Amino acid sequence: MENTGPSEPGESESGGRTSGARDAGRSGGPGDERGISRRQFAKAAVAIGGASALSACLSRGGDDLDVATGPDDLSTLPSRQHAWDEYLNRDDHGNVVAPRHRVLLLLNYAGEGTPSDEDRETAESAFRSLERAYERGNDGLLFTVGYSPSYFERFDDDLPESVDLQDPRALAPFEDPELDRQDAVVHLASDHAEVVLAAEQALLGEQATANGVEMDADLSGVFERAERRTGFIGEGLPAENQDVDGIPDSGPVSEDAPLYMGFKSGFQKNQASEDRVTIRDGPFAGGTTHQLSKIRLNLEQWYEQDSRSQRVGKMFCPVHAEEDLVEGAGDNLGDSAQMEQKGCPAHAEDHARTKGMVGHSQKSARARDDDGSPLMIRRDFDSTDDGRAGLHFVSLQRTISDFVDTRDAMNGEDLAERSAVGQTNNNGILQYMEVLRRGNFLLPPREKRSLPTPKPKN
Ligand code: HEM
Repeated sequence: MENTGPSEPGESESGGRTSGARDAGRSGGPGDERGISRRQFAKAAVAIGGASALSACLSRGGDDLDVATGPDDLSTLPSRQHAWDEYLNRDDHGNVVAPRHRVLLLLNYAGEGTPSDEDRETAESAFRSLERAYERGNDGLLFTVGYSPSYFERFDDDLPESVDLQDPRALAPFEDPELDRQDAVVHLASDHAEVVLAAEQALLGEQATANGVEMDADLSGVFERAERRTGFIGEGLPAENQDVDGIPDSGPVSEDAPLYMGFKSGFQKNQASEDRVTIRDGPFAGGTTHQLSKIRLNLEQWYEQDSRSQRVGKMFCPVHAEEDLVEGAGDNLGDSAQMEQKGCPAHAEDHARTKGMVGHSQKSARARDDDGSPLMIRRDFDSTDDGRAGLHFVSLQRTISDFVDTRDAMNGEDLAERSAVGQTNNNGILQYMEVLRRGNFLLPPREKRSLPTPKPKN
């Protein structure tokens, strides 16, 4: 692990831990207050992980953190694992504020063949302990558990037709991703680095309590951790953690940017509702599907050759650039990226031909429902895993086909065929990103989240 000094958090951890950003190694250690802010430190600690990262985090002030515990009566929690929005803060425009720190745990079932009832009960007990330990919300913890098509192949039965969970595959001629075939994925989210780290430790059996609450069980005998991915989103964090490969040394990411590319994302009107992405029928009604991509960002040209106006045009729409609609990271846009208002999706082909450029948001917004709703909720975040600028794209949609359709719209191959816009050049943000891995998972409703069979009874 590059630069990780002798007293750095994570030193005792190895194997599967992703290295932190270069900044993780810049300070003299967890006790060193020089040259590294608490925010930056928290991000680095999440990237490194492990018991020592957690204790380092706590010794830098996290000890004072007062996080409310969850309800005693867990039946008060919604059945939808993905029901996050009602628990999350809103900004001045009513947009949901994404939890700032994230961990994704890719897990394999530790047993052979189909899971036993005993393992099912142990896993459920571990998840329930976490729910009792932390209230749901930005200050507490949100988490989901999902299962891959490979997991369901363990069973003789197929998934019901009401579930569209396809095997992951390459979704464009210009990508060649590795495919995630791990059994399960756990997504942990909180505004506090200490919370995601402690929840992870408790879940994996490396710590007996979480937020002072005893864990009744943990996942250590049930799952093996195959991979750990980490990240962050929100004002200040990308700027403070931009000293990684893929971003110019000049440090171009501004303080108000919630993501490395400089713009705000997740406007309320450009996200599907939780209802829209929920499976309606069958044994997994109340669940959803979870698409996961590991994306590498290459932002040298983005920041060093493209002008601000080009960046606005490529991210949103050429009209947004011409009319100078986006101030700073785009908070002034309110609760919508203003695609329809400016006729952007309908004019994508025309813009590609006459302006030689088409925007990412403009193209993606062509994949909408008849009533104008986007097809998916994006819960993605930036990352410094592997010491490189990246983005873990997490999206929720009722069917994986909804994701594939949206990704087709974003690819804009139709536009490239009929204009001077290239397959990736001036074609939104395709040129700046590379999909390294893809995985598809089913997020069952809460009551079926622990090692489900493909045809659960009730
Ligand atoms: C590489 C990093 C990415 C960044 C920085 C990014 C950023 C953005 C931004 C700033 C918007 C405009 C407004 C908003 O979010 O509310 C947007 C819209 C959108 N993006 Fe991305 N995006 C990325 C990757 C992706 C990927 C991989 C997909 C997958 C299909 C995607 C799908 C969408 C969709 C569906 C919309 C909304 C379209 C609508 O309004 O209907 N984005 N993105």
